[in-house]
Amino acid sequence: MKTLVVYASRESKNTEKVARAIAQKLGDNCVLAEAASAPPPENFDFIALGFGVYRGWPDGDMIAYMKRCRRRNVGLFMTLGAWPDSNHAAVCLGRAEGLLDHCQVKTTFVCQGAYTPEFLAKLKQMPPDSPHGWTPERAGRVAEAMKHPDANDLSMAAEQFAAAVTKAAAAPPRPAPPVKSAIVLAVFGSAVPTAAAAYRGLEQALRRDHPDTPVVCAYTSGMVRRKLNESMPSVGKVLKQLLLEGFTRVRVVAGLLSVGEEYHKLLSEVSAFERSLAVSVTKPPLSDLPTLRRFVSAVAAGVPRERKPGETVLFMGHGNHDGRADFQYLAAASVLAALDKDFKLACVEGNPAFAEAVGDGLSPKVWLMPLMLAAGDHAVNDLAGDGPGSWRSDLTSHGHECVPVLRGLGEIPQVAAFFAGQIPKDELM
Ligand code: CO
Repeated sequence: MKTLVVYASRESKNTEKVARAIAQKLGDNCVLAEAASAPPPENFDFIALGFGVYRGWPDGDMIAYMKRCRRRNVGLFMTLGAWPDSNHAAVCLGRAEGLLDHCQVKTTFVCQGAYTPEFLAKLKQMPPDSPHGWTPERAGRVAEAMKHPDANDLSMAAEQFAAAVTKAAAAPPRPAPPVKSAIVLAVFGSAVPTAAAAYRGLEQALRRDHPDTPVVCAYTSGMVRRKLNESMPSVGKVLKQLLLEGFTRVRVVAGLLSVGEEYHKLLSEVSAFERSLAVSVTKPPLSDLPTLRRFVSAVAAGVPRERKPGETVLFMGHGNHDGRADFQYLAAASVLAALDKDFKLACVEGNPAFAEAVGDGLSPKVWLMPLMLAAGDHAVNDLAGDGPGSWRSDLTSHGHECVPVLRGLGEIPQVAAFFAGQIPKDELM
């Protein structure tokens, strides 16, 4: 049984005293370390984690270390100023326990700890009517705390942890399965065959950056999947399959532009697997300003070279009819305009609306580009179609010369690289 006692202790050294007592009892094989410099938790069969309570939480180094503990046998010991059987102590212990990942807590030990003379002097100056006021009740509790940890606390903690280690040794934990990673590219999907080229562009960029990791593409749109006779899987179906194949870690690349209806659907579909897989989802490019700026310059790289300065490029975004993505697209419009004053953006649903963008002074020649990953139905029909409702028809009837660029953003190498770059190259190794 390889045992580790790891602790975070401040000036008072209360927790350190308990840690030393436990380590001494556990014998020569036991490693004693401070949280900031402790060896990896994976190297030990049993870990005793000790901390003082600061504003209701363990100290930052200890929080970081506890988050690294996964599928371990552990015990917790805690020192604090409050009574060990108080509600406050139970809450603090529960918070600490919540930081651990699938660990078995074999024992817990709580005792009071003395304040430093400086802190004690500060406490005594608190007015009696403040929440931390120096009242007779408080004075009594602090007087008791000043005696701890005492010899009895130290021997009790040591006995308790020795017993827990003996018990854990009798039933060693199942070893954690080896890490096996996969990437899932989650896109809306399109039933337009040429649109799929954009998705392939993203897949290729991911495969190029992560040659040792399988990349699987899933469509979030049930309507599109049905149109394709379910020949493309949903995200849930892919995650279930990866789980069955023994994958343990999955990075889902959200091939969606905004935090809207589809992204929320994706998050909830993924959340069903959070307990069985280490799974996370990337943020869409329109979700914050620095990401949006990088994304927009990648998009600009896809504007045809033939387009001359001063000629309008009108981008068609999707948007959400309920308006929840409005501020993201309004931000995208302003970032595009900051890059080139003749870049305009309007959305199929929500804002900014087409009527606004058109009323905004377009050049006689207008380039029409989808601000969507794939040049699907909206691009083919609503943007560039010959039908009466299309943007092209509308602008043509108002005397503009339209040049549709029917290329999904995924076909722009810089945009594909942007999405692939959301997973650092060494992250999945
Ligand atoms: Co739509």
